[in-house]
Amino acid sequence: MTNLSEFFSESVSDQLAKPLTAIAEAAFNVSKHLPFAMGKAGRLNPFGEEQTKIDVFANDVFATSLLGTSIVAEVASEELERPKTGTGSLHATMDPLDGSSNISTNNPLGSIFGFYSSPLPCSGKGMVAAAFVTYGPMLTFTFSAGDGVHRFAAVEGVNGKEFVLIDERIRLPDEAGVYGFGGLRREWIDPVETFVGSLERRGMKLRYGGTFVGDFNQVLRYGGIFAYPALKNRPRGKLRLLYEVAPMAFIVKQAGGLASDGAMDILSLEPSSLAETCPAYLGNTSLVRELERELSRRR
Ligand code: F6P
Ligand code: MN
Repeated sequence: MTNLSEFFSESVSDQLAKPLTAIAEAAFNVSKHLPFAMGKAGRLNPFGEEQTKIDVFANDVFATSLLGTSIVAEVASEELERPKTGTGSLHATMDPLDGSSNISTNNPLGSIFGFYSSPLPCSGKGMVAAAFVTYGPMLTFTFSAGDGVHRFAAVEGVNGKEFVLIDERIRLPDEAGVYGFGGLRREWIDPVETFVGSLERRGMKLRYGGTFVGDFNQVLRYGGIFAYPALKNRPRGKLRLLYEVAPMAFIVKQAGGLASDGAMDILSLEPSSLAETCPAYLGNTSLVRELERELSRRR
């Protein structure tokens, strides 16, 4: 079995292998602490959301690991008012613990990372790698450094825990199996409601758990579409472009799919702030294009 460092030594530059290894190793630490840090931290994040202790813990662990590589110039995080700075030249974003509302139910949680060659905020055109971790029945690490999407799972190796390759060059299946759309249905804009009706009529299954990483990951595996759409009361949606959507857009494109805000490729959007949100439609290219057409007809 190929482990992460063997895989990196053959296919990923040192400049990217170091920070990617740092987050994979830090994920062991975060995973181990989940049962002990479930309570509230008593603070709000920059988005006004109540932080849990594990949000704060995961933020500290990942930021320290990334900056410790000396390759990272800044780490911008959903949990930080201002990026933490370092000595390198790579610019990193992270949602250190995605899906905090699922902590107490032990449903899937995740972490999301983007790496850029330009200072933040910047468009996805400057992205050089992206990765996500799932804390579910398996602890997995999925990444793309611009040459396909590869997934590793944590196992007990001879020298302790390690990540071994379980999926190489992941591609979205041509046949679309599942869909998951966030937000209250009564707040969906009309084209979204119409489109979802048509997905149901063609036999696609609803899979929605309320953690972006977990829900997107199902689409990556089974084909289909994930969305956190434009809402009537929130036209730019809920998910954060830099911390959540852009890294998954990089990954879905590398897997042969597409990510759109309804009109534009997510990776072409030019954010004016780190906190910007955007409607997010990710999955099989044909479905994302179909929804874009539906949205443009009603604009
Ligand atoms: O980070 C925001 C988040 O928790 C995502 O993980 C998830 O996709 C979304 O919010 C769920 O929101 P809602 O409860 O409105 O469907
Ligand atoms: Mn999140």
